[in-house]
Order: sequence, then C-alpha cells, then structure tokens
Amino acid sequence: MRAFRASILHLLGDPTENGEAVAFHEDGLLVVDEGRVVACGDHAELAGAYAGVPVEDLSGHWITPGFIDTHIHFPQVDIVAAHGAQLLDWLEQHTFPAEAAFADPGHAREAATFFVDELLRNGTTTALVFGSVHRGSVEALFAEALSRDMRLIAGKALMDRNAPPGLTDTVEGARADMEGLIADWHGKGRLGYAVTPRFAISCTDAQLEMAGQVLAENPGVWMQTHLSENPREIVETAELFPGASDYLDVYERFGLVGKRSVFAHCVHLQGEAFQRLAAKDAAVSFCPTSNLFLGSGLFPLPTACQHGVKVGIGTDVGAGTTFSILHTLGEAYKVGQLRGQALDPFHALYLATLGGARALDLDDRIGNLAPGKEADFLVLDLAATPLLARRLKAAKGLEDRLFALTVLGDDRVVARTYLAGVERWRR
Ligand code: GUN
Ligand code: ZN
Repeated sequence: MRAFRASILHLLGDPTENGEAVAFHEDGLLVVDEGRVVACGDHAELAGAYAGVPVEDLSGHWITPGFIDTHIHFPQVDIVAAHGAQLLDWLEQHTFPAEAAFADPGHAREAATFFVDELLRNGTTTALVFGSVHRGSVEALFAEALSRDMRLIAGKALMDRNAPPGLTDTVEGARADMEGLIADWHGKGRLGYAVTPRFAISCTDAQLEMAGQVLAENPGVWMQTHLSENPREIVETAELFPGASDYLDVYERFGLVGKRSVFAHCVHLQGEAFQRLAAKDAAVSFCPTSNLFLGSGLFPLPTACQHGVKVGIGTDVGAGTTFSILHTLGEAYKVGQLRGQALDPFHALYLATLGGARALDLDDRIGNLAPGKEADFLVLDLAATPLLARRLKAAKGLEDRLFALTVLGDDRVVARTYLAGVERWRR
C-alpha cells in the first residue's frame, strides 16, 4: 500500500446534473494498493487511518484521474498536420497511403511503441483506438498496451470497398481476423476488442451485416465507427445506402448501435438522431481539433447532452492535431464559443474522465478516484510553463484555475502517469 499527498480533483458524477459532483481536496491523500484506489479524500481526515502507509509528498501538484481518449487512430501518427484537404480528399491523399505502411509488422511494432509512449506522455490512460485494416497493426498495439498494463480498446478497421488495393479486406477474411483477435486479446490484461467498420462508405452491406453478427456473437465487445462528420460524406453515404432513412439508420439496420457503441463526430446530427442514440445508450466522441482541422463543422454538444447521449472527448489523431486531452478541452471550449455556447470547465473535465468512462461503459472501473476504481491517475505540474504558473497564481478560484489549465496546458503539464498504481511515465 502507498499514498500520495497533493491537491486532488475528480468528478463523482456529471457536474451539469449534480451540483455536488466536483470533489476537490486542496490538501488531499490518495491511497492505492494492488492497482486500485483504497481511499481518496482530505489528508486531515485520512492520515490517521493510514498512518503506517508510506506517503509521497507531492504538495503543489494536482492529482487527477487519467484522461480517456474515446477516439484516436493508431496508424495515423505519421500524417498529423497534413495540409489542405477536407475529409474524403484527406483520406485519399494522406491517410490511406500512411495506413498501407502498416501491412509491415515491423513498422506497426515501432509505431505502437511510439503511440503508447505518446498517450502516456499526454496523460491518456485509456483509449478507444482504430487500427489499420491489417490484423497485425492491432496485434502490435495490443502487445504494447499489455506490456504497460494499460486499459485500451482497439479494433482492425473494416473496409471492403472505396479504398486502394492493399487496404481492403473481404467479409470472410475480416471475420476470421476479428474472431482471432477477440480470442487472442479481448479480456487479456485490461485490453478489449472493438468491431470497427471504418465508416459506411468503406463497407458493403455484407461487411456491415457480418460486423453486426460478430458483435452479437461476442457480448462485451465494443463497436466504433464514424458518423455524420462531413457534408460530402453524408451525401455519398445516402447514395450508397438508398434504403436507409438517414446516416445513423445505416448502422441501426445492421445492429451496430448499442451500449458499447461509440460514434465519432456526429457534427451534423439533429436532435432526433441524438435521441435514437440515447435510447440505445450509445455514445458520441466529440473531436474538436479534428473537426476544426478538417473543416468538418461545430459539434452541438448542448444538443447531444439535452437528449441524454453519453459524450466523451476524442483527439482523433491524425485528423486531430494533438494527443493532449488538456489541449483538446481548450479547443472544445473554442468550438462552443463559435456556437455561442460556452463549455463549463468542470463539464470539460468530466468529458475527459468520468464522462469518457461512461461513454465506454467502463465507469465501474475507471473515470474517477473513488475507492475500488483502478488506480489510473496523473500528477500534474501546475507550474510547467512560466505563463501557466503566472496565470494560475492570478487565478480566482478552482474553476478559473481548471479553465486556464485546459486552455494553456498540454503534455508539459503531465509530470507523471500511473497505470493501475504503477508509474509508467515521468517527465
Ligand atoms: N472517416 C472515415 N475514416 C476516417 C478517418 O480516418 N478519420 C476521420 N476523421 N474520419 C474518418
Ligand atoms: Zn476518426
């Protein structure tokens, strides 16, 4: 058993619904044992009960839960910041060539080490990840995450049309790959498998039908895809699926919408579609840096929340431009500003932690530092940059400090990252 003394900030619920959801312990104590949180609260209240436990004094730092990235692409690390195109052209010009390189297992292994290092350096302790179409890309990523005891969910991209040769699969080949990956990796350590149809445009009816079958045959497996990101994508989807009533219906009719389904973007969805997602307890990943970078549009977060849809935050690297969830929250605020709807700082932190955990149906295990949760947490250095130190000294209370941290903070703030109680990154 060990303990950490610092300021501790986490959320016990959704702060937009519950005024008591924010838990802040200015002089706090976090006690962990065997990978889990044993106690978390005020130092003055807990110190007596854990008097014999070695305490590391991190006063002046903040401890928060690890961040949860609900949408990111592993094989796109080499094309972050590719100039000049919106979604469909960007996929053809930049993304597909980069993903083709992941046919080489050696390349996939090298990139997987970089990718997981980068997640941890930015304080991301759980991610829902797209692989490339190649089974080996997901195997490389799972192996890397397992070696760090990381809670990570991933899947091979399903794409049997509208992609270059070498980057497509077949219905039967994809089924065999998925069944093998699920048997070998799902539930191993803290890993999980996600059935991953890239998006409707890249999948035939037969492919989506098979995806729905694999999902139904493997309870506990996740589903991730893209939905309603870009106007041209929406038009082409309607042309490819003339029988569907709208974009979401393409996924609904193949049984792909459920409690463990995460839909990236949903920038152009209307209230009624959010309602259908909420009715199935499905989740949306809000990816502000990607939506701004590709010019996709402004996600209507308040509309999604009003309809009760679970929402998490996603970096969507490589259309997204950063691995930093802190920086992504700052950009989420700017998206809100462009819509005339300012994002509350505690709501932002919720999206990155407990909200993300709920989006992934993992809130019984991660998302905050309640006793019994897996001890995935961060030590944040609030003086990581001169400007941040100065700004926080001038701050007017907790909310203001948190807000400035999301706008000015990035990987430099993450002093340490712990996975299941073990330090896996130190700056
Ligand atoms: N839609 C289909 N594939 C992709 C992708 O790789 N990135 C984004 N942002 N949208 C997609
Ligand atoms: Zn994406």
